[in-house]
Amino acid sequence: MKSPIIVALDYPELDMATGMLDRLDPDMTRVKVGKEMFTRFGPAMVEACMQRGFEVFLDLKFHDIPNTVAGACRSAADLGVWMMNVHASGGRRMMEAAAEAIRASGSSAKLIAVTILTSLSQEEIAEIGYAGTPEDNVSRLARLAKESGLDGIVCSPHEAARIRGELGPDFELVTPGVRPAGSDTGDQRRVMTPRDALDAGATYLVIGRPITGAPDPQKALEEILASIG
Ligand code: C5P
Repeated sequence: MKSPIIVALDYPELDMATGMLDRLDPDMTRVKVGKEMFTRFGPAMVEACMQRGFEVFLDLKFHDIPNTVAGACRSAADLGVWMMNVHASGGRRMMEAAAEAIRASGSSAKLIAVTILTSLSQEEIAEIGYAGTPEDNVSRLARLAKESGLDGIVCSPHEAARIRGELGPDFELVTPGVRPAGSDTGDQRRVMTPRDALDAGATYLVIGRPITGAPDPQKALEEILASIG
């Protein structure tokens, strides 16, 4: 599939999510299932997406000892997800074990890392004991993820150009915080348009409310695809 869009499904009810899936064309987007829906509905949520033809990014951000994270990634791979993620701060051995577990299961699922949560301020990063700026920490952890055999990272579109420059073309950058020109930013602070995020080096764009909150979600999706050409 050519589309770089991943629609974030953040709902308290399963039928709200499946209602949204039924309004979207699986040839035009993938979907992201996160902690809220997976904790409540489990693998049934992933299966509801896959039954309708959607590839799934399972956004559970695993962070534990290597053996446990490897087992979690194997379970996700067996569910048939397209992409999953771990926290890079779990360290090199944890990331290597996760990547190896996916490979060994025969799955081609992508494994990406979260570096520094964009919700953390400079002061909070210092408080948990990381020296340097958020940017320094993102760069260091992104490099560690690449060295550990991961396929890419989640990052802000505002970090994409720098990371792309530092780590080269063969690394996938998945960027939330994307808003079509003129749309409501909601609680997102530093946003970028889909076209600008791709130009900055993003590989995939995670977009939630501008599509799921639109009166016609499929039309909103098509307009975003048209805006990126
Ligand atoms: O509705 P919206 O487009 O803001 O949704 C963005 C999605 O990406 C949500 O699922 C949100 O949890 C996720 N996300 C984010 N910012 C991050 C990491 C994940 O917005 N730094």
